[in-house]
Amino acid sequence: MRPKRVLAILGSPHIDGATATMLNHSICEAEKAGYTIAKINLYEKQLAFCVGCRRCLTSGMCVQKDDIQEIISLLHESQIVVLAAPTYWANVPAPVKNLFDRLLGTAMEETAAFPKPRLSGKKYVLLTACNTPAPFSWIFGQSRGAIRNMDEFFKTAGMKSMGKIVCANTGKTKNVPERVLRKIERCWK
Ligand SMILES: Cc1cc2nc3c(=O)[nH]c(=O)nc-3n(C[C@H](O)[C@H](O)[C@H](O)COP(=O)(O)O)c2cc1C
Repeated sequence: MRPKRVLAILGSPHIDGATATMLNHSICEAEKAGYTIAKINLYEKQLAFCVGCRRCLTSGMCVQKDDIQEIISLLHESQIVVLAAPTYWANVPAPVKNLFDRLLGTAMEETAAFPKPRLSGKKYVLLTACNTPAPFSWIFGQSRGAIRNMDEFFKTAGMKSMGKIVCANTGKTKNVPERVLRKIERCWK
């Protein structure tokens, strides 16, 4: 039987912040559920900006040669992607946005009508941390904006959500509350 693989992506510059804690907890739960994990730190990867050439829409592969090829291979080998990114300006940090741009043709194929997904059958978990306290982080669109932008990529790629989890109020403490950790665990049950 082929191993069940998870690609875990850290999209924060802090390797010991709330976002990283959420991702590490998710990895522990995935391992308990029998998955093999490939973890990458996006801030350690060499990824040039998307130049908007759109050639990937035909080939499914970016023409620029850097760490994107490795990430695309890991994506294809994995059944589940866990993306952990802090909320920056009600959105995702620039390296995460650039990753989505670089993966345009990996995620979808352009047709005359609607985009055709290229990663159907795979699943995803979204994790974000933000300073704004709940429920205002959601009501005023802070964490909601970050989740919405990440969701747009994975939904367009044809993938199904296993959970979208927010750790709000990180200005007070970087510790991730127990109730947030329990929500992460429920994704893997
Ligand atoms: C450039 C930048 C923009 C930010 N924008 C927001 C924001 O829009 N809303 C918010 O609640 N917090 C915002 N924050 C705070 C971070 O989301 C918060 O510190 C988060 O806990 C960082 O997680 P990490 O330490 O795990 O990377 C921002 C932080 C930075 C550095």
